[in-house]
Amino acid sequence: MANKYDELFTDIEKRILGLIVGAKILNDLTDIRNKYLSKKGEFSVLMNKIREVDDKKAFGEAYNFARKEIEEALNKKFEEFKKAALEIELKKQAIDITLPVEKYKSGSMNPFYKVKREIEDIFIGMGYTVENGPEVDSDKYVFELLNIPKDHPARDMQDTLYIDDNLLLRSHTSSVQAHVMENAKGKPIKIICPGKTFRRDDDDMTHSHQFAQVEGLVIDKNINLGNLKATLELFAKKMFSKDSKIRFRSSYFPFTEPSVEVDVSCFNCKGKGCSVCKGSGWIEILGAGMVHPNVLKMSGYDPEVYSGYAFGIGIERVAMLRYGIDDIRRFYQSDIRFIEEFNKKVED
Ligand code: PHE
Repeated sequence: MANKYDELFTDIEKRILGLIVGAKILNDLTDIRNKYLSKKGEFSVLMNKIREVDDKKAFGEAYNFARKEIEEALNKKFEEFKKAALEIELKKQAIDITLPVEKYKSGSMNPFYKVKREIEDIFIGMGYTVENGPEVDSDKYVFELLNIPKDHPARDMQDTLYIDDNLLLRSHTSSVQAHVMENAKGKPIKIICPGKTFRRDDDDMTHSHQFAQVEGLVIDKNINLGNLKATLELFAKKMFSKDSKIRFRSSYFPFTEPSVEVDVSCFNCKGKGCSVCKGSGWIEILGAGMVHPNVLKMSGYDPEVYSGYAFGIGIERVAMLRYGIDDIRRFYQSDIRFIEEFNKKVED
């Protein structure tokens, strides 16, 4: 709304608008705002003249009108600068979607680990929990608490690598039985323990100085050999084939009585006899038995009240049978071609 005071502000307004148009960077605008519009700014102080004029209302209107125009121009320019800055930033971050992508090869799991997990899954499904134990252990847990006293000839079968007279690399996962029983303090037990084992073996197609087992241990009232057989038969059916059968052959382990070697019917020829089962129709897969009363007693269980069974499965052996692998050393050589091959077979 035009009035007689408008002219008072025309020059300075033009000057400021000119400066705004000429601003090159955001800082120029801030400078303009400070110089003219701050409390003591060149434009702001013009308001003081209101004391000298007679029509104060008209003066105020003229002042406000000019100030509003300047502020609007300033804000508009601020927005322009911000938008331009954003555009530059976006351009910098732009992704060239026309570039060809780099091809990543996805990894595949070593058949050893596949089988280890499958074994774990099968037993977890039967209510077992998974335990761990030390790979470097003392004579007490690896041998003595398992009814293998010093100088017992059974130690020869499981000669291992010694750290000192007492500490050794465990020759079987049965050592975990002793730890678990000690910790359970007379309570029922139902566990498996997968893990590495070590023996003083020459490495050949079927032996390695390091291999892995899954130990199983169940202790409770009224546990019998029939429970062991049913458990292992279910395991064989899930692991190999739904028609798998198992058989027990009597054997000897110092920590079980009676002890058995467990054979599974050959899933390749269904028992007729082939190269996988060496013509017999059966394949040995594990050792097992009823926990020896001495072992129960040494770990604080009354053998008159409690009984239990234990078994030890060779993981590599199961994996070799399952996938037709001829040489145990292949599991440890990290040959990607080998590992990929067995991945395909599983997914087929
Ligand atoms: N520890 C025995 C071995 O390594 C296997 C086994 C485990 C046998 C549990 C009976 C019971 O040969």
